Amino acid sequence: MQTFQLYINGAWVDGAETLAVYNPHNQQVIANITQADESMVDQALKAAAAAKNTMASLSAKQRGAILDRLCFLIERDKEEIARTIALEAGKGITFARGEVDRSIETFQFCADEARRICGELIPCDAAATGTGRFGYFKRYPVGAVGAITPFNFPLNLVAHKVGPAIAAGCSLVLKPASTTPLTSVKLVELLLGAGLPTTGIQLLVGSGRTVGTSMVTSELLDMITFTGSPPVGLEIRSKAGIKRTTLELGSNSALVIHEDGDIAKALPRCVVGGFSNSGQVCISIQRIYVHKSRYDEFKDAFAQSVQKAGTGDPMDDNTIVGPMIEEGEAIRVKKWIDEAVAQGASILCGGERQGTFLQPTILENTNEDMAIVSEEAFAPVVCLMSYDSIEEAIERVNNSQFGLQAGIYTADINTAFYAIDHMYVGGVIVNDMPTYRIDNMPYGGVKLSGTGREGARFSVEEMTELRTVVFNLT
Ligand code: SIN
Repeated sequence: MQTFQLYINGAWVDGAETLAVYNPHNQQVIANITQADESMVDQALKAAAAAKNTMASLSAKQRGAILDRLCFLIERDKEEIARTIALEAGKGITFARGEVDRSIETFQFCADEARRICGELIPCDAAATGTGRFGYFKRYPVGAVGAITPFNFPLNLVAHKVGPAIAAGCSLVLKPASTTPLTSVKLVELLLGAGLPTTGIQLLVGSGRTVGTSMVTSELLDMITFTGSPPVGLEIRSKAGIKRTTLELGSNSALVIHEDGDIAKALPRCVVGGFSNSGQVCISIQRIYVHKSRYDEFKDAFAQSVQKAGTGDPMDDNTIVGPMIEEGEAIRVKKWIDEAVAQGASILCGGERQGTFLQPTILENTNEDMAIVSEEAFAPVVCLMSYDSIEEAIERVNNSQFGLQAGIYTADINTAFYAIDHMYVGGVIVNDMPTYRIDNMPYGGVKLSGTGREGARFSVEEMTELRTVVFNLT
């Protein structure tokens, strides 16, 4: 069995301890990887700080070219990377291939941004004391970035941090999820092949306590960009000090299907949006509010479609719903389902768990007081609820501690704009699932869903500092 190394200060390194990487489909160990100890973390942080100048002195052309070459290398090794994602994350291979395709676009968007980071002139003479002054502002790299990434998109959510950091001219310490580190090992290999300066990135794998906390509290890093759970995000914010933080946290995303919504179009999107990657997506559909006049029609058709959704081996091209990442996660959600049933919910389909597999589950007679509705399930579970008026629907969408994205199906432009104006979320998707994301759009949330925005241009903005320059010409 292969034992993978970490990458620190320009070299692949072994350590005393290793971590096993499991296939969540059958619990078999697929590889081992070195676990970072404190001294490795220390070396990585120092290396990232020392590499700030190297990265900052790359020209826009050089940074763009590294990212362009990376896209070519990912395309070349696409099938191998997709299989690694499917193996370590349990993601259906068709969706894993889709993730690799998306990551190429993400890195392409970052390459474009690298070439167009620019500033603006300041109209100094608009101010009483600005006469005879010439001013502008320009973006400079924030410095050394600590990127802490989740298991659910082992490539593309890493791409959303690594790509902008390179585009901005920052050095990096990357800590991927301990359950899915192998995709990041491959990515670092490809980055080096693409010509990234050898100390531009450090790869650390290990516990939140040893690696994560040291990154967050270290004065050697200038920024933490994190995607993961709200409790960890809040802890990062409380410990990061003056560092800049971008936090992409969770959600219990809602979709409204209004009385004039196109149910035939909504149905397949609700299956993908609620159940792909076993619902382990921050914008997975967890709540569907259907207008009372269409509720029964939608409910019956949705239950039928979900029962037909392919479940099983992630290596099977037809699998939509694979295993959850760890058995403990499936146990947690099964408990919330049972609690909801005890509180009056009914199971339309699914509801059972076997090991890491939770059957695709639809619940009805649910309400916002139940944990399965109000907490982030991050699981293949959708709660159906009916409503009387659009005002009520939107009030219930907003009755959440989260606010990442929401969706609405309606044929009426006025209803769409009412929803856009009143849904308190980072993104509103009209006539599609709230799970819709392309990698150049601003992506991020309000409330407990986080702070800051990702998406190439917006992450580059977060990873750069504005510097104001004023010339006195008098
Ligand atoms: C996430 O889970 O936050 C990412 C969703 C996506 O990129 O599609």
